[in-house]
Amino acid sequence: MKRIAVFTSGGDSPGMNACIRAVVRGSIYHKIEVYGIKRGYEGMIDGQIQAMNSHSVSNIVQKGGTILKSARSQEFMTPEGRKKAFQQLKNFDIDGLVAIGGNGTFTGAKLFYEEFGIPTVGCPGTIDNDLYGTDYTIGYDTAVNTALEAIDKIRDTADSHNRVFFIEVMGRDSGYIAIQSGIGGGAEIVMVPETDTSIETVINTLSKGKLQHKTSAIIIVAEGDEEGNATEVAAKVKSHLSDLDIKVTILGHIQRGGSPTARDRIIASRTGIAAVEALIKGHKNVMAGVVNDEIVFTPFADTITKHKPISNDLIRLVNILSI
Ligand code: F6P
Repeated sequence: MKRIAVFTSGGDSPGMNACIRAVVRGSIYHKIEVYGIKRGYEGMIDGQIQAMNSHSVSNIVQKGGTILKSARSQEFMTPEGRKKAFQQLKNFDIDGLVAIGGNGTFTGAKLFYEEFGIPTVGCPGTIDNDLYGTDYTIGYDTAVNTALEAIDKIRDTADSHNRVFFIEVMGRDSGYIAIQSGIGGGAEIVMVPETDTSIETVINTLSKGKLQHKTSAIIIVAEGDEEGNATEVAAKVKSHLSDLDIKVTILGHIQRGGSPTARDRIIASRTGIAAVEALIKGHKNVMAGVVNDEIVFTPFADTITKHKPISNDLIRLVNILSI
């Protein structure tokens, strides 16, 4: 391994910069040349590849977003796109890759290795925390704290006006942000794609709350909940409980930005270094994750196909705490 390249791909997440920094400095430490690829697989196809040095990553550990930018590439999904990408990597003599992203990113990397033999090691970069093979993904902790801060503020106004708020958090297929911000924010109900919470349950909980003289309520809805997004769920509830003053807040992409928390910076730094060292040792097609505070490598085949379940204990906690 003489020359590696690092890129960020898919939805950005706070801490990606700390991870890029770790990959660049880890490579320099091990006397490997390191390049940065702009805009993920898109930039790989277009040859947006540039040499990086220690200074390229100065003063970024605390910054949200990604200095390498990110994209969801349609072209890389095609054999022609991947062929172009391979040619570009050949032009730059790149013989290993560190991919910072989620399942889509690792699916592309696995396919790319099968076709062209370029080894890739992944770092788990997504706010969703939905990757099998790591307890936490880079950006998840920051996203939860961002959501929590917003929930606290909404609770103030909900309480002042005796209102019920449906707050939508991100998570197309995953309720991790919802469950943690719901517990931390004292939500009455948390609706996640992993478990069925019927509209009837929501109605019963709100009605019970009313009898107990609760004057306001917070319901967290993960955007991918089986009953629909927060706007849809709120409309269904309103049609049964028309006397309630119901509001909907969609937190959206605010959850993807901001300065990463300490936990995210540390996971990013640890997995970034681990990825470089894994490439040096000849590993490929694996993601560096943190399980029980230890670095663990999980094959892309597993991170892509295996589902990371939400702990039933957490779901139980929401129910107990909202009595
Ligand atoms: O995968 C991260 C994520 O933020 C999901 O939670 C969300 O559904 C999706 O990305 C949004 O993607 P985009 O920014 O491309 O609309």
